[in-house]
Amino acid sequence: MKFFVDTAEFDAIAELNELGIVDGVTTNPSLIMKSGRDIIEVTKQIADLIDGPVSAEVIATQADAMIEEGRKLSKIADNIAIKLPLTWDGLKACKALSSEGHMINVTLCFSANQALLAAKAGAAFISPFIGRLDDINLDGIDVIADIRQIYDTYGFETQILAASIRNVNHVTDCARIGADIVTAPPEVIHKLALHPLTDKGLETFLKDWEKTGQKIL
Ligand code: E4P
Repeated sequence: MKFFVDTAEFDAIAELNELGIVDGVTTNPSLIMKSGRDIIEVTKQIADLIDGPVSAEVIATQADAMIEEGRKLSKIADNIAIKLPLTWDGLKACKALSSEGHMINVTLCFSANQALLAAKAGAAFISPFIGRLDDINLDGIDVIADIRQIYDTYGFETQILAASIRNVNHVTDCARIGADIVTAPPEVIHKLALHPLTDKGLETFLKDWEKTGQKIL
């Protein structure tokens, strides 16, 4: 399973990238707003660093304008995935831009039927939002499982990019049901390494080692 980082904070991405665990990055208008940076400038900086797809989202809501914005965003770097919302116009833009050879990430997906349409329109990635479904008492993981089954049944090559990841259990669940990618905020990725028994075990080992009076270096 691939890990994308869901942020526009360059330093946080760079830190995780040093571990070699970053397969891509996703941004959205809210994340660009939080970064306080210019979209073109920060996206270029990220895309130059990361060896994988970096999603940049259009703002237009009409297909023609989405296509124009998408073409402009794609010029930032070769590894840009143009992010389009799952609206009827977004699907039209997806069909047009994917036919031109652009990598498209269809975002704001909340159902298996939406994911089916995105795959048929040529999306490279579909982004179902787990956390936001959970927020309204629907099961985001069930939606991912449905999409996995449908894509596998019909051989769609669109990759399932599980998004709106809010906690470590979302990551485990996505891995278990076969999402191709999870995009998670840096804080969630950091938490994946934590376990209280690891901390407790290390504390015991260090105390016992001290009693031996030995040194390794
Ligand atoms: C996905 O591409 C989005 O950027 C993101 O995962 C949305 O997450 P949120 O629901 O926590 O805002």
